[in-house]
Amino acid sequence: MKIVVIGGSGLIGSKLVNELRQRGHAVVAASPSSGVNTLTGEGLAEALADAQVVVDVANSPSFEDKAVLEFFGTTGRNLLGAEAAAGVGHHIALSVVGTERLLASGYFRAKMAQEALIKASKIPYTIVRSTQFFEFVGGIAQSATDAGTVRLSPALVQPIVSDDVALALADVAVQEPRNGTVELAGPDPIRLDELVRRYLSAKRDARTVITDVHARYFGTELNDQSLTPGANPRIGAMHFDDWLARSVAQG
Ligand SMILES: NC(=O)c1ccc[n+]([C@@H]2O[C@H](COP(=O)([O-])OP(=O)(O)OC[C@H]3O[C@@H](n4cnc5c(N)ncnc54)[C@H](OP(=O)(O)O)[C@@H]3O)[C@@H](O)[C@H]2O)c1
Repeated sequence: MKIVVIGGSGLIGSKLVNELRQRGHAVVAASPSSGVNTLTGEGLAEALADAQVVVDVANSPSFEDKAVLEFFGTTGRNLLGAEAAAGVGHHIALSVVGTERLLASGYFRAKMAQEALIKASKIPYTIVRSTQFFEFVGGIAQSATDAGTVRLSPALVQPIVSDDVALALADVAVQEPRNGTVELAGPDPIRLDELVRRYLSAKRDARTVITDVHARYFGTELNDQSLTPGANPRIGAMHFDDWLARSVAQG
């Protein structure tokens, strides 16, 4: 089967491309660095020729409100238009668990717009919503840092390792379209402030984490339901503490 991975050079994309190739599929890793740009349309028609499935795991280079909305709106329209012209039979996109509960954030308004375009198109689809990646915990700490302190909500999260996200996407890519949404999460619920404390401590990072129920996560306040999955998520195998120990050992 010919499968195009948009954002195929990224964290999830590169793992997904490897996994699908190991399963014997003809995979195109498409992104600006290989001449395929969903913002401008460059290289898109050529990449999609004869493709049965497209998996969109691209991300916006900027998280600024206007830029990220423009990114997911324009890339979504360009990609779905090119897929319709090429006769693609299954569009898969990676989104975030809880997106509709996080709309005070410009990033999540943009992800919601991306999902709405997919649902409004005529192309059969599956939206895969994941919780936060273990690899993103450092970025969460960074975004919440002010003058050496990290201010974070104690809301529950259930993060997942990127390898388990890529495995789940590979399975979805070879299944029938759901015309609906599936959720992915890691095996362990944990409080966000505690998650980042463990991460910084293991990395011997001197920043202090301050617990603040009103601390905003990319612009939005959180509660225990905001970032956690619903009734039947697919659960990843890797535990955060095991991943963290491995990642510290690897330097
Ligand atoms: N971080 C999290 O915890 C989390 C949780 C749930 C869902 N997600 C979602 O997961 C997705 C993938 O995230 P990631 O961390 O794997 O991303 P990433 O490592 O930042 O990679 C982004 C990819 O997007 C590509 N890209 C950027 N601009 C593009 C354009 N104009 N046209 C085509 N491709 C473009 C990049 O290509 P180049 O390398 O060529 O620039 C790169 O391959 C995102 O949609 C995000 O919303 C993330």
